[in-house]
Amino acid sequence: MVFYFTGTGNSLYIAKQIEREPISIPQIMQRECLEFTAERIGIVAPVYGHEVPTMVKEFLRKSVFYTNYFYMILTYGNRHGGAAELAKKLCDECGVSVNYINVILMADNWLPGFDMDEQKKIDKKVEENMDKILSDLAKRKNMISEVTDIDRAAHQQFLDRMSQMPADVWQHLLRVTENCVGCGTCEKVCPSSSIHVVDGKAVHIPGNCQTCLACAHACPQKAIQLTIPEANPDARYRNEHISLHEIMESNCQLS
Ligand SMILES: Cc1cc2nc3c(=O)[nH]c(=O)nc-3n(C[C@H](O)[C@H](O)[C@H](O)COP(=O)(O)O)c2cc1C
Repeated sequence: MVFYFTGTGNSLYIAKQIEREPISIPQIMQRECLEFTAERIGIVAPVYGHEVPTMVKEFLRKSVFYTNYFYMILTYGNRHGGAAELAKKLCDECGVSVNYINVILMADNWLPGFDMDEQKKIDKKVEENMDKILSDLAKRKNMISEVTDIDRAAHQQFLDRMSQMPADVWQHLLRVTENCVGCGTCEKVCPSSSIHVVDGKAVHIPGNCQTCLACAHACPQKAIQLTIPEANPDARYRNEHISLHEIMESNCQLS
């Protein structure tokens, strides 16, 4: 049993290599009972600010896992900042006994930092690193991937920067431009119902936004942009092995 959260498909791609039918966290979160039993249970999720997305934290807090092997695979694009150690701490807080946490470098979908057209060209050795992870899981290896003092310092620096910003700063990250044609792609890829088409135009509703950027990356008009400068506002990303339909199936909260 493997659960996943994804904005642009990297984490879904990894989850699909582990099991043929991974379970979407945004979809399973709609259930009342979050108790799961399996011989092996895992979570694949992206790293946001060195941690897992808010919804993944909530999922861990609310769920009860009956298993004797629990693992997490965290996809990141540039600097994991000790994500494995932070995820271990989260598991401890949630009473989840975790056997294995690893990180895997993939395309970085953080639009302010990276030009997606350039990211797509970089060989991040995903297949090679994924094979190692698959082999570890097959052997039920016990390991939390290494975290250095440099990683910890990077995370502390990030926290210091964040503490000087308003608490809800990321809730106001998205803006819809006049190029929006109201096609509704954004509301179908949103895992938290945070964007809706109203009177033919997309409207972003702050509050529960996961900042996964699924809407911005999937918009066919590139009409969803950020309120802070982007590396390349014309470049957008989706993992090459994952279809738009799969992102919609993973995330769509419309009934
Ligand atoms: C809000 C946000 C924050 C991110 N923070 C980090 C980060 O701290 N370190 C990093 O290396 N990558 C970061 N990334 C990049 C993603 O972790 C990476 O691209 C991930 O593989 C995306 O997974 P997905 O395609 O399943 O959504 C961030 C991306 C977003 C959208």
